[in-house]
Amino acid sequence: MRVLGIETSCDETAAAVVTEGGDVLSDVVRSQVALHAPYGGVVPEVAARDHARAVVPVVREALARAGVTAADLDGIAVTSRPGLAGALLVGLQAAKGLAWAAGKPLVGVDHLVGHLLAVFLRRDGAPAPDERPAFPYVALLASGGHTAIYRVDGPALGAIRELGATRDDAAGEAFDKVAKLLGLGYPGGPVVDRLAATGDAAAAAEAVPAVMARKESLEFSFSGIKSAVARHVAKRGRPEGQALNDLCAAFQGAVVDALVQKTVRAARAEGIERVVLGGGVAANRGLRAKMAAACARRGLGLFVPPFASCTDNGAMIAYAGALRLAAGERDTLDLAPETRTALPRVTRKGGGVR
Ligand code: KG4
Ligand code: ZN
Repeated sequence: MRVLGIETSCDETAAAVVTEGGDVLSDVVRSQVALHAPYGGVVPEVAARDHARAVVPVVREALARAGVTAADLDGIAVTSRPGLAGALLVGLQAAKGLAWAAGKPLVGVDHLVGHLLAVFLRRDGAPAPDERPAFPYVALLASGGHTAIYRVDGPALGAIRELGATRDDAAGEAFDKVAKLLGLGYPGGPVVDRLAATGDAAAAAEAVPAVMARKESLEFSFSGIKSAVARHVAKRGRPEGQALNDLCAAFQGAVVDALVQKTVRAARAEGIERVVLGGGVAANRGLRAKMAAACARRGLGLFVPPFASCTDNGAMIAYAGALRLAAGERDTLDLAPETRTALPRVTRKGGGVR
């Protein structure tokens, strides 16, 4: 089975052709980062307009690189939720138009399910099938828009359960906001990661509180640490040189500690021995190193997809869609965008103890 996946939920216009075995035949990602950088974050209306310009060329490129035409496809998958409504609409309309014109089945995919299954994608030189995780696994999904821990018993929506999520900012959002406070540009994750590598977290520890309060909770809160950095900058000005690196190291260390400790705690509470990472923050070197060490200490198997599978891409959507198609599922041309995920949420947004 060869399935085209289209992803336009946020600030990447992406399309890919993938088999139901997870082999990536093509994967085209066109980032809007430069477009949004002057604003320090994604501007929804700007995103939607750019998707409208880019979606057809990106889809054409994905088909061409895979060496197929629309007629060769077994179906078309598209991110239908969660995301920016106007941005999702562009991908949905493109997918519907193509499905209708080529007479192919259409399936909507929940973007978060795509992230949670991206570990099964096989790119050039990617892990052999026996190095992929078996179900069930515990997955930490940490991106600019989402941060949550899931128990994944299978690829279907009903087999995925949220164990805990952020009550306010996503982890990537915290990186982006702190980077903005420090004058480091957008997106903030990669640059904070780089500066943190030569920083001494202990030297800036007093500026940054721990991210987790209640020990047994699987919920996160990242708005407090962002405010602490804001107060620090307001009082002392923007740090430079080594002091900047130290602050980045302290901030990153606090965020990473919370992500690692709660993910490991979730795996132990569920009695599951496999941990999977996903989302753009999974690129963070501090997170990878500490998660690897923590999992090794407790005998947990850690599966970290390559970076191209962690950040937003069409391949994960095509793959999740291929599994839906293989299960005999179809959507109609009535498929509409939804801003929220279809996965049941257990975490209440907003204040409270965590
Ligand atoms: O998954 P993604 O590409 O897009 C969505 O948000 O869905 O994730 C982007 C986020 C941004 O917030 C970016 O700052 C963060 O991932 N990120 C990182 C790193 N690389 C990207 N955060 C920490 N360390 C990194 N190396
Ligand atoms: Zn994403």
